[in-house]
Amino acid sequence: MSYQVRIEDTDHAFNVDEGESVIDAALRSGLMLPYSCRNGTCGTCKGELVEGAIAYPDGLPPAIDASEDAAGKALFCQARASSDLVIRVQEVREAGDIIPQRLPARVEQIDDLAPDVRRIFLKLPRDKHLSFLAGQYLDILLRGGQRRSYSLGNAPREDGLLELHVRHLPGGVFSEYAFTTMQPGALLRFEGPLGNFFLREDSDRPMILMGGGTGFSPVKGIVERALQVGTTRPMHIYWGARAEPDLYLNQLPRQWAEQHGAIDYTPVLSEPASDGDWAGATGFVHHQVLADHPDLSGFDVYMSGPPPMIHAARDEFTAAGLPADRLFYDSFEAGG
Ligand code: FES
Repeated sequence: MSYQVRIEDTDHAFNVDEGESVIDAALRSGLMLPYSCRNGTCGTCKGELVEGAIAYPDGLPPAIDASEDAAGKALFCQARASSDLVIRVQEVREAGDIIPQRLPARVEQIDDLAPDVRRIFLKLPRDKHLSFLAGQYLDILLRGGQRRSYSLGNAPREDGLLELHVRHLPGGVFSEYAFTTMQPGALLRFEGPLGNFFLREDSDRPMILMGGGTGFSPVKGIVERALQVGTTRPMHIYWGARAEPDLYLNQLPRQWAEQHGAIDYTPVLSEPASDGDWAGATGFVHHQVLADHPDLSGFDVYMSGPPPMIHAARDEFTAAGLPADRLFYDSFEAGG
């Protein structure tokens, strides 16, 4: 059984199968609606239900409360249609015709970047190609229908390699494998590209790019893309981490800042070693952004990291004058 979903004030409509989320159905038909986590925690996919009925199979998700639900708001990454629907959402048009695919890939190379972070390069079969926008993510597909999301850590490259930054979570269904028995040549399957986190190339505003932990990965991809297209927009890159070893590619943004006059780089540690010689910024990374840029009204801000960082920064950046439609973020739970 399937239902039709129409996006109000557009001529766009798509079918959603029973049990399928509205976001998944839209992606399958080549329409990009706003979303990030796809697990009901970030709130990016929140829109309005104009007509029809929906249900949440696991109960009301964390990112929507009962009063919003009663007022007709809906979380479309979790909502299942129980009738034809008319919905009100802002489509992400810049994504063009990029449609997620399910593809096989081989592990081409594994680099140890920190005691608990590995960089994995994936290579597609010769007759396959993945179109993606730097900053998007993919889901590694695992046995039993499980999946783990990883940002793409590079801009599209001529050799087609895909770079992932994997943090080791002991016992994690994918990262444990990636840190123990995985070898170059191993075969994986993934679905992607996914997500709305990518460089908006039609803007000429200065950018702030903030990554927390392995949230540096999509920031790296976006900066690489900006450099590929020869942007002259100022970019201030922030990388928040616990301690110095967690800045696992620290040399790279330092080099960008040395080589490009329009790039600044500020690493920020929340727990620098007490016996170390860290002379840089300390505390929460988003507080450092606000200390340097108390008025954010003229910026585009890109940020990627764990939900608590994203939530706090979203509120405080908006209070500092950043318009909501110039804040782009990728909120991810470390799922192992
Ligand atoms: Fe739906 Fe995050 S809550 S995408």
